[in-house]
Amino acid sequence: MQHRRIGQQTVSAIGLGGMPMSIEGRPDRARSIAAVHASLDAGVRLIDTADSYHLKPGEVGHNEELIAEALASWGGDTSDVLVATKGGHLRPGDGSWTLDGSPEHLRAACDASLKRLGVEAIGLYQFHRPDPKVPYLESVGVLGELLDAGKIRMAGISNADPDQIRASQEELGGRLVSVQNQYSPAFRSSLPELRLCEGMGLAFLPWSPLGGIGKAGGLATHDAFATVATAHGVSPQQVTLAWMLATAPVVVPIPGASRPETARDSAAAADLRLTDDELATLDASVDG
Ligand SMILES: NC(=O)c1ccc[n+]([C@@H]2O[C@H](COP(=O)([O-])OP(=O)(O)OC[C@H]3O[C@@H](n4cnc5c(N)ncnc54)[C@H](OP(=O)(O)O)[C@@H]3O)[C@@H](O)[C@H]2O)c1
Repeated sequence: MQHRRIGQQTVSAIGLGGMPMSIEGRPDRARSIAAVHASLDAGVRLIDTADSYHLKPGEVGHNEELIAEALASWGGDTSDVLVATKGGHLRPGDGSWTLDGSPEHLRAACDASLKRLGVEAIGLYQFHRPDPKVPYLESVGVLGELLDAGKIRMAGISNADPDQIRASQEELGGRLVSVQNQYSPAFRSSLPELRLCEGMGLAFLPWSPLGGIGKAGGLATHDAFATVATAHGVSPQQVTLAWMLATAPVVVPIPGASRPETARDSAAAADLRLTDDELATLDASVDG
């Protein structure tokens, strides 16, 4: 398993996204736990979650609890697994996602995530999404407080533009370690943020790297990815993740999964080497 770095921590080059296990269309608990175990068995050492990955209003933290349970029941050494969670989004229960980036909310959300994850300090805590009602740096400033208080070991932001990335790094006095933005063959508009992260030495975690829940199958209809996949005898989803890894050494994709099969298949992308010609063909196919 190829490795990458987030801040000072070494993680697997491919992570696991927990969202499909907890929102609309989620499977039963046993299948979700099996998917997390399959990832860990395959060498995955980064799991992305959020307090807002849940369905009904009364079950905030559904995914965090599930991840904590899966880590506890796995049986192996989990001390090198980085669990990355987030605060700042809410789900009122009607399928929508609302925002609360107020310092009061973020402080309380972090305390609640700490309890659910059962840890003394959260490995990586990310501000989920800018809240237009709250000055951005007031929200990000809370990450600094949480670092100072030892409640979180590392701080990240998500859904941020280049100005917000630069301003956050300044606000945190150089302690920002990661940016999590949407990025996939079909959604490449955060390439400037990816390149900025590369220049600043920040980890870039592409979310929905396969196109999103219920859409990953679409990669099979993408000619270039399908052709390279056939040549290697692997899935087009695996090719997509390997192509993404080759974009820059700071890229750490977090494909979501709710089945052991897909979790295992995606993890194997960390060991898939594509040739320069293949990478050029794939680049040209998404640029075109
Ligand atoms: N920061 C943010 O605002 C934000 C927003 C969205 C997501 N995220 C994070 O990013 C993670 C990834 O995004 P996502 O889950 O929305 O979308 P995604 O990773 O693009 O796609 C997830 C879907 O792809 C399928 N899949 C995964 N690996 C596959 C493989 N090797 N072959 C075929 N199908 C495969 C899974 O199917 P099965 O369910 O059948 O396993 C899953 O439902 C989330 O889980 C979450 O942690 C963050």
